[in-house]
Amino acid sequence: MADFKNILTDMKGGVLHLTVNREDKMNALNFETLEELRSIFDEVSDNKEIKAVIITGSGEKAFVAGADISEIASLNEVNARKFSENGQEIFSMIENCHKPVIAVTNGYTLGGGCELAMACHLRIATANAKFGQPEVNLGIIPGYGGTQRLTILIGRGKANELMMTGDMIDAEEAKTLGLVNYVLPTKEEALAKAEELIAKILSKAPLAIGMIIDCVNSAYLPDENGFQTEANSFARCVKSGDYKEGTSAFLAKRQPHFKGE
Ligand code: COA
Repeated sequence: MADFKNILTDMKGGVLHLTVNREDKMNALNFETLEELRSIFDEVSDNKEIKAVIITGSGEKAFVAGADISEIASLNEVNARKFSENGQEIFSMIENCHKPVIAVTNGYTLGGGCELAMACHLRIATANAKFGQPEVNLGIIPGYGGTQRLTILIGRGKANELMMTGDMIDAEEAKTLGLVNYVLPTKEEALAKAEELIAKILSKAPLAIGMIIDCVNSAYLPDENGFQTEANSFARCVKSGDYKEGTSAFLAKRQPHFKGE
């Protein structure tokens, strides 16, 4: 993996750790950082050595405090649409990645930061994490998929409230609402929990994991029939060696050894 200016990368046992590293700007996502995310996720899909991804923010104060407001301040109608579509496209790459992606949200997880976390498959927060979509304070709305993903994750009423008021919620409330899966006291513990979950997921059949991601995502794509996607994916699973391995291991009362084939 190449070196990037704004994102630190570290491979540990098949898990790619990404750290958004603009600590003096609360890890705000500027265009350059977004494009780095695009390059990284291009490689994640192609590189067989990478089995899973964990994304976190540098330091203790912020996961990502939003898109970089210094770049947002001079948009016009034409490039604002492109700005939004571009961010949506990159976050969809993350959401549709067939390898598990977990956000470990330490501190401020606001605006584009909350949208980035929501594009990941699971979210683990540190106790000091704060979530919100404060774009309304800037006269704009979430533009990287937040209006859609927040509504799906926490329901229409609460999503409307958070986006209309711009209020922040703490980690425990985020967990109660279903925005995060777990809350851990420290970043180290949150990262350890992410690694534990990834180890468990990676012990399962990789093709089935990719199919689950596709089917779950299709639940909120209005042009897709999620039940049909499920039936098609189910049928594709039974063509895999992992299906034969999983079922025969169960019947032989032994542990399965999946190969992702
Ligand atoms: N874009 C660009 N810079 C940002 C930023 C963002 N989204 N969020 C924080 N920063 C910068 C600040 O401008 C400041 O830079 P400076 O030291 O050069 O002045 C630095 O990060 C530290 O932020 P500061 O506001 O001094 O810290 P704080 O602890 O007082 O407040 C926040 C933290 C996150 C509450 C506050 O920075 C904030 O509200 N940020 C914007 C959040 C937002 O609206 N996000 C959605 C954007 S669409």
